[in-house]
Amino acid sequence: MTKRADIEAALRGVIDPELNADIVELGMVSDIKVDGAHVSIGVALTVAACPMRNQIESDVVRKVAAIPGIDDVTVDVTAMNAEQRSELMSKVRLRARENATPTMISPQTRVIAVSSGKGGVGKSSLSVNLALAISALGHRTGLLDADIWGFSVPRMLASTDARLEAGENRKIQPLQATGLEIVSTGLLVDDEDTALMWRGLMLSKALEQFLTDVAWSPNLGYLIIDMPPGTGDVQMALSRMLPQAEMVVVTTPQRAAQKVAARVADMARRSHMPVVGVVENMSGFTTEDGRHYDLFGSGGGLELADQLGVPLLGRVPLDPGVVNGGDEGRPVVTEDPNGPAGTEIRSIAARLTELIPPAAEDTCTARIAVLAEQLEHL
Ligand SMILES: Nc1ncnc2c1ncn2[C@@H]1O[C@H](COP(=O)(O)OP(=O)(O)OP(=O)(O)O)[C@@H](O)[C@H]1O
Ligand SMILES: [Mg+2]
Repeated sequence: MTKRADIEAALRGVIDPELNADIVELGMVSDIKVDGAHVSIGVALTVAACPMRNQIESDVVRKVAAIPGIDDVTVDVTAMNAEQRSELMSKVRLRARENATPTMISPQTRVIAVSSGKGGVGKSSLSVNLALAISALGHRTGLLDADIWGFSVPRMLASTDARLEAGENRKIQPLQATGLEIVSTGLLVDDEDTALMWRGLMLSKALEQFLTDVAWSPNLGYLIIDMPPGTGDVQMALSRMLPQAEMVVVTTPQRAAQKVAARVADMARRSHMPVVGVVENMSGFTTEDGRHYDLFGSGGGLELADQLGVPLLGRVPLDPGVVNGGDEGRPVVTEDPNGPAGTEIRSIAARLTELIPPAAEDTCTARIAVLAEQLEHL
């Protein structure tokens, strides 16, 4: 029955954006039926016509279908009866009292962690450029550098001299630059030596501070997280604090990366973070006269995507604009948006916002408030 437990864990990644709690905790999962590779989930919403319905439904499908061995997910949506609603409201109130320090990331914010099974594959370059490309599509976007010791975001955005400052309520203001809200350890320390002092700091503690003590915009549509290389510790901490987080996996075209695939799958399973898709980076190089070289092999991205059972979101070619842009703080998607890498990264950003559509602006809050009031008077 481990499958059932896996499904329940995946459903804990589905957050009711208004009540800011997962649908399992809220008692909204009325039924889980497993029939081989087919799963059907009963979800009871507060009101049947809730505008959140589509979002919750598609989140349930995406998160449960990401579990290995599950091919097909159906969702059966019903409406709660008065008794169930009153139970839910008391849970919500209790929860509000218990959770004194929730993160500053709105439950409406879509969180995408850019990860990989090994280092140096272009996570930071892609995080920076994807954040800019998503922002250019008209979404308010944040960029969190979760590489606490090996930060590279400030350099890539020419913000090495900028510093985070305290704002109201003793919260740290994220850096507003290039249209993004940016937080990185590199914006707190003055030099690499000071950065070394952070080694004494617990990784998950620093990450927690970035999520709880930073005044992120409440209407952030997307938060892109540049993940550090290495183990799944940060993934685990993240999914605990931001259960809505999902993963984009970056890989190189090199084939036979089974070990990498196994590592990524393991990371996803342990953190219950679904993988949205794979991005192949450093995929070949085309000279100005049109000759193509697969410098780092070919096919690795598709192979990994197939192994994980997720789509290949795109193949970003080797492009000197990525290296130069990264070193000089002139990101390739803004410097050369129609160049080889710029074009592909912008298309990946568009694909991502399709797969993980921004949260609905229209909410049930008003209706829930009315319901709560009615219940108070019963
Ligand atoms: N498509 C590309 N074309 C050319 N160079 C690239 C491309 N993608 C990344 N690079 C270069 O490869 C190097 C590593 O990239 P990056 O720092 O983004 O990787 P990373 O996965 O974040 O590394 P780490 O695991 O150390 O955090 C950088 O010098 C970067 O400029
Ligand atoms: Mg990096």
